[in-house]
Amino acid sequence: MSAVLETLMQNDLLSSVAYVTSAILFVFGLKLMGSPDSAQRGNLLSAGGMLLAVVVTLLSSGLDYKWIALGVAIGSAIGYVTAVRVQMTAMPEMVALFNGSGGLASLLLGASEYTSHGADPEFQGFTAFVTFLAIIIGGVTFTGSVIAWAKLSEKIDGKPILYPGQQFVNAALLLTALVLGVLFTLDPTRGVLVGASSGGGAMVLSSSIVFLGLVVLSLMLGVMVVIPIGGADMPVAISLLNSYSGLAACAAGYAINNSILIVAGALVGASGIVLTNIMCKAMNRSLGNVLFSGFGSGAGGSGAAVEGEAKAATPEDAYYVLEAASTVVIAPGYGLAVAQAQHAVRELGDILEDNGTEVKYAIHPVAGRMPGHMNVLLAEANVPYEQLVEMDGINPHMPNTDVCIVIGANDVVNPAAREDETSPIYGMPIINADAARTVYVLKRSMNTGFAGISNPLFFCENTRMIFGDAKKTVESLIEQFKS
Ligand code: TAP
Repeated sequence: MSAVLETLMQNDLLSSVAYVTSAILFVFGLKLMGSPDSAQRGNLLSAGGMLLAVVVTLLSSGLDYKWIALGVAIGSAIGYVTAVRVQMTAMPEMVALFNGSGGLASLLLGASEYTSHGADPEFQGFTAFVTFLAIIIGGVTFTGSVIAWAKLSEKIDGKPILYPGQQFVNAALLLTALVLGVLFTLDPTRGVLVGASSGGGAMVLSSSIVFLGLVVLSLMLGVMVVIPIGGADMPVAISLLNSYSGLAACAAGYAINNSILIVAGALVGASGIVLTNIMCKAMNRSLGNVLFSGFGSGAGGSGAAVEGEAKAATPEDAYYVLEAASTVVIAPGYGLAVAQAQHAVRELGDILEDNGTEVKYAIHPVAGRMPGHMNVLLAEANVPYEQLVEMDGINPHMPNTDVCIVIGANDVVNPAAREDETSPIYGMPIINADAARTVYVLKRSMNTGFAGISNPLFFCENTRMIFGDAKKTVESLIEQFKS
């Protein structure tokens, strides 16, 4: 049976049809991922496309499958155990490792292509060029992602690592890599003249040393470009590295002339760059600022000092106000994920609705620590999608809102972003929670959020702080309604 399939797949037309089918499944899968209702189906469809592509590639290559089967078994076991054990809040770290693996795979593909075909005349020119791209982008993605993972998981200090002349060093490394890349492209078998020897003869680096130099430079560049990025900006860096992993795969696809790898790589590359752009816009930062400013190093201003006294309230106080409210907006943030309060929040939302209150959830694009973080959490708790309103949609309604319950959010509701020109987050669009008639802020302390700056919202006349773990506080509110 498998021999028949192998023979069939070695037919170019049949494997091309299967690849086009995979590509269509990827594109439709991506389209379906655009809405939470259809995202699961989209994921399955794309995964099905990938399975088809992998099976067709393996069958059409006529390989010895022993080692491949062993690799698949080990990889699947590691993937399964990690996916089951990973915490929702650690998802960005996991994505970083996925990207890194993609980059490493492209680098290895480029290396294998060079070692097996580097001396063939057809390798010179275009194939050598795309192999160079697969190696350089793949290497940067691999080590860059490992550093991003280490910063996010606090294996190393998350603060930006800055030193004098850093950008000069990075530019010099990049330039050297580009020069070696040009030489490699022009003639992958030729060494590089590096000077004269003491005997007067030419000193030439062998071509494999040029190749090794490219690999080493790509790995160094990945480390050097990611260390100056602050741990908190790492999600943006990760989505950029995600895009790089796609570009590296695309280049590797050209190097080995595999159309589905080109398509899949291009899709990942393009969607990664779109996501990076959305995240930068939502934080009102340019990509250059994220990559080079060392945000979070403590070098920037911390905004005007906030004066006044924050007023505390108890869940019982809040119950009386919520019981009488006609409109309630819930503004969730990173603390909702830490407290895992999504199910309790949904229950509170349902109780309020049963009590005749209109309930909406205000979703800020960078609330939490990864794109769509709040959507994912609330969808997990089956909060109806119609109740989720994007920031631009909810802000005009805030002045007519009786109560805004801020749950574990801080920066995304900080009015300093709107009013304080000296604030590091000045200009970042926020949810105007302070415009509601009453604001309850559920958090454990007066501590700052990701940006490390104080929040004038906590000192507003209409704000009451309810201190404690968000889940426990919401559960106490539910108890008040039930008793
Ligand atoms: P943050 O500003 O980080 O504030 C989260 C707040 O949650 C903290 O002030 C913390 O205060 C509170 N908290 C933590 N654990 C809690 C718990 N168990 N119960 C109750 N409260 C808890 O979060 P945000 O408002 O969601 O803003 C996100 C920030 O991350 C933005 O600055 C954004 O630019 C940045 N960022 C986001 C992304 C993406 S893609 N989402 C990417 C990069 C950067 P206490 O310690 O006092 O409890």
